[in-house]
Amino acid sequence: MSKGVILYQSKYGSTKKYADWLSEKTGYDCIETKKAKVNDLKDYDVIILGGGVYASGILGFQFLKKNIAALKDKKIAVFAVGASPYDEKAIMQSRELHFKDELSKIPLFYCRGAWNEDKMSFGDRTLCKMLQKAVAKQNPDEYEPWQTALMSAVGQNCDWTDKSQLDPIIKFTEEV
Ligand SMILES: Cc1cc2nc3c(=O)[nH]c(=O)nc-3n(C[C@H](O)[C@H](O)[C@H](O)COP(=O)(O)O)c2cc1C
Repeated sequence: MSKGVILYQSKYGSTKKYADWLSEKTGYDCIETKKAKVNDLKDYDVIILGGGVYASGILGFQFLKKNIAALKDKKIAVFAVGASPYDEKAIMQSRELHFKDELSKIPLFYCRGAWNEDKMSFGDRTLCKMLQKAVAKQNPDEYEPWQTALMSAVGQNCDWTDKSQLDPIIKFTEEV
């Protein structure tokens, strides 16, 4: 049986929740990406890296990018956790933007997280308000999926986390 580890980076808890659920289901260890050292990963066959989505970037992804040469023999997958609804086009765009060269064969999964303005730092709340104001000036028929999600989340607390969203990742771990 493959030995696996989940690396996660979460600001407000959704990615951590998914990492914990995934760990329960697979028996994989869980390490916060910012505490991980590439040397700690040498005994694992499978690495699942999960990170919250912030302004289209995936938290902790830099770790993979930086260490990909040392991890080239591992089976790797990434899951992103954002507030936008699942959107194939957005996932393709994210792949094109971040998964270049040696990273190009790594599968990218998506789980929907949460939106909780009460929990956000002052800086994040201010940034989101500015984004919402900018997006409000555009034609709603032309919104990108993340813009629609941002506008419908204004002033609300929403939690879309759901164990079933991990099914494709669990399938991946069963197949490697
Ligand atoms: C400043 C800021 C920027 C964000 N940018 C995006 C984004 O580009 N796309 C998206 O889907 N969600 C975005 N979100 C929502 C988070 O990805 C969402 O809340 C997610 O659940 C966070 O995961 P975490 O709690 O593990 O950090 C943003 C949230 C904040 C506060």
